[in-house]
Amino acid sequence: MFSPNIPYNDLPPLPPDVDLETKPVMRKLIKASRALSELNGALTNLPNPTLFLDTIHLQEAKSSSEIENIITTNDDLYRDLIADRKAGVLAVKEVLRYKEALWLGLERIEKRPFISTNLCVEMVQCIKQNSSGIRVTPGTVLANSEGKVLYTPPTGETVIRNKMSELERFINEPDNLDPLIKMALLHYQFEAIHPFADGNGRTGRILLLLYLKLSGLLQIPAIYLSEYIIRNKLSYYELLRGVTEKQEWQPYVLYMLDMVEVIAQRALKQIHAISALIDAVGEQIKEQVPLAYSKELVEILFKLPYTKRLVLSDAGLGTLKTVGNYLSQLERAGILSSEKLGKEKFYINKALLKLLAKP
Ligand SMILES: Nc1ncnc2c1ncn2[C@@H]1O[C@H](COP(=O)(O)OP(=O)(O)OP(=O)(O)O)[C@@H](O)[C@H]1O
Ligand SMILES: [Mg+2]
Repeated sequence: MFSPNIPYNDLPPLPPDVDLETKPVMRKLIKASRALSELNGALTNLPNPTLFLDTIHLQEAKSSSEIENIITTNDDLYRDLIADRKAGVLAVKEVLRYKEALWLGLERIEKRPFISTNLCVEMVQCIKQNSSGIRVTPGTVLANSEGKVLYTPPTGETVIRNKMSELERFINEPDNLDPLIKMALLHYQFEAIHPFADGNGRTGRILLLLYLKLSGLLQIPAIYLSEYIIRNKLSYYELLRGVTEKQEWQPYVLYMLDMVEVIAQRALKQIHAISALIDAVGEQIKEQVPLAYSKELVEILFKLPYTKRLVLSDAGLGTLKTVGNYLSQLERAGILSSEKLGKEKFYINKALLKLLAKP
């Protein structure tokens, strides 16, 4: 029995005992799968598919951290990243850690295609930068802004570990469920187990991306799902509660499928727009600053929207003096703009930043 104030140690294992493949779900599933496979195709056909990853993952980290009220601007984020500043703004640090955790997860499943409890622990430790593991003390509750307790997750380390092992088996063992439905289920279950004292939301959102990759639906996880959750945050919370309190799986699954559809469509548009911009900027450099032109230079300008001399010279494009000249010329040609931060000058690809900010 569920009661908001009592630890939900009776949380049932997956899959739920209801018919998930209803007509509305199947209809939405087709749309979401189609959007995702178009995105997957577009990404794998790119000349340099991983070029976008850094930027996209930063956007994902930024959106996901915003859900936790860690707000940064794109400018602050990229500036700190390219300046390699260890201190920086606290919020930026948290966002960068989130991105690290995402990379860590992706690297691990690349080596071994398996999502484990330990991997979740590693990721949350990376996000939180501490050594906290599975909750061992009771007292974790989810409350609304007025302090009213809405959900008390399972308590007791053994109970939590058992539920995590069940979840681990569900995730990794083959079955007949569609992977997108499975992704929705596992996300709910992870949040309901709520294995950590904090960082469950962020870890659970990374799991979404890891599962898309693991299930082969998206080879290159260049997508940022969290933006959808931020924009529809209240219904997200309500739908999670609906599952717990009334076993209302359908609206929750539909929400997650809509997230995939909307975000995949948006990512597809963005990738086309960025690819077109890469070509246009390449042509412009060839014409206006031919000495500076190289494929590598264009790639650097699009790997992240901010760059500096050291990045170019480290990539073997010339001495600091030479690449400094290139950058000044690119600025004069209107391709980059610059900004001084301390002693260092940064060069910004404003057109790329603008595309990234587009809704
Ligand atoms: N009623 C609920 N039942 C289960 N899980 C819930 C419920 N309400 C919220 N959650 C989950 O708990 C997460 C918040 O948990 P926690 O504070 O540990 O994570 P976080 O990463 O620090 O926060 P955030 O998700 O806000 O960024 C939410 O993102 C959501 O996924
Ligand atoms: Mg939190």
